Amino acid sequence: MKYLIENFSLIQNSLYIFASILFITGIKMLGKEETAVKGNFLSSLAMFLAVSITLTKMNLDIKIVLTGICMGALIGSLIAIRVKMTSIPEMVALFNGFGGLATFFIAWSEFNTSPVDTFPIILITLTLYIGGVTFSGSIIAYGKLSEKITLKKTSIFTKIFTTIFYISLLYLIYALIFANIFSPSFDYFLVLIILTLLGGIGFVIPIGGGDMPVVISLLNSLSGIAASIAGLLLENNVLIVAGSLVGASGLILTIIMAKAMNRSIGNILFVGYASPSKSKSKQTGDVKPINVSDAFLIIENSSSVLIVPGYGMAVAQAQHVVKELGDLLEQNGTDVKYGIHPVAGRMPGHMNVLLAEANVPYDVLVEPDDVNPTMDSVDVAIVIGANDVVNPSATEEPGSPIYGMPIINVHNARTVFVLKRSMSSGFAGVQNPLFFKDNTRMLFGDAKESIGGLVSEFKE
Ligand code: TAP
Repeated sequence: MKYLIENFSLIQNSLYIFASILFITGIKMLGKEETAVKGNFLSSLAMFLAVSITLTKMNLDIKIVLTGICMGALIGSLIAIRVKMTSIPEMVALFNGFGGLATFFIAWSEFNTSPVDTFPIILITLTLYIGGVTFSGSIIAYGKLSEKITLKKTSIFTKIFTTIFYISLLYLIYALIFANIFSPSFDYFLVLIILTLLGGIGFVIPIGGGDMPVVISLLNSLSGIAASIAGLLLENNVLIVAGSLVGASGLILTIIMAKAMNRSIGNILFVGYASPSKSKSKQTGDVKPINVSDAFLIIENSSSVLIVPGYGMAVAQAQHVVKELGDLLEQNGTDVKYGIHPVAGRMPGHMNVLLAEANVPYDVLVEPDDVNPTMDSVDVAIVIGANDVVNPSATEEPGSPIYGMPIINVHNARTVFVLKRSMSSGFAGVQNPLFFKDNTRMLFGDAKESIGGLVSEFKE
């Protein structure tokens, strides 16, 4: 016991290192479906350990600590249990925001200790700015994803907030350059707080809905960077490590997603889908609807089928019946593959998660680059609730707001079935010429019911 008390600091630091190892292992395990659940558990354990050690260090009343932990666990679990799969991106945006808010408060409380040295003042300023922008930016991202905020890029409010964002950046640069020559006053700090929070709104508000996935992962990365700078400020090693991990992995994901959309991060943040469309094309040709029985006759006689799921499959929760259809087709001698677009759905890996839940084997999933070159040998491409990710305007129409985004070229298959409920557009809000192509047949209705109908035909 005496040894424990004398070496308390050593034990705490060893546990911090252990928590950091758990964080790194957990994040690594998140990279594969088979280990993702365990990875998530390990990372949560690491967070619990890191928070517990820090609180022990602070000699707080144990009752207050336990009450805080129980309340946080209860609120977090309730939100996670109640949230629908399709609303996960909004939830992630909100949780990112809370991470930013936490670091924002850390900076605020450290400012109240009246720092005099230049380095802590720089750290406080940076933590406050990045944390604050992450917080208010994430709230706007949440509003945009849940379609509660629909302000256009051209609106006067958007322009005002965007200008404030640039002013906040200038003020940040000024504050950092002069941190060593002026002792920060409360007035300086108040201006920084106000500009930071309004600047976060201005950072996200002009960015279009189609680019939100990239913005969410960038905000995620920013919350990690803010946390690691806060770690430097508090001289807390585990916060530095955990923050850097989130910052780096979020940045890598941002780059991967921007690449998947064939856009630079600068273009997404400062030009964006939100720019008004110069597209002048009008759709020509008729839409050719098809019913379940006729669709069945065609797929029953096809030797290769490509299933392309999108957001609508998630809404309809059709993944299990889709797997059933895939199995029946295979038993019928048809080669079945699933074309997975990296931004199909509403979160990274959305389609992979749904198909894994339905036990679709990993080796039948193909990416656009794999399947596009051989698309003309596919007998039937079945598009299930996907729209933007199969929109040929992205490759054929330079004026289109989604021009340049890689797509799955289902229009080059011999026949295309599009399963959706109406002619309405997808997330990017643009019309889809695929629906009017000669080789396309529209199977209108809820995806689960339409696929269920095809399965029933097979079983009859
Ligand atoms: P979307 O372009 O959003 O199209 C989904 C289609 O599903 C809609 O056109 C809708 O048409 C149909 N649908 C909805 N409910 C349905 C149901 N019950 N049964 C059948 N169809 C249904 O989807 P996508 O092709 O997957 O593209 C994803 C888009 O979301 C991209 O623009 C992407 O940038 C954006 N985004 C992606 C993410 C990530 S990380 N994946 C995050 C946020 C945003 P009807 O209403 O006519 O049925």
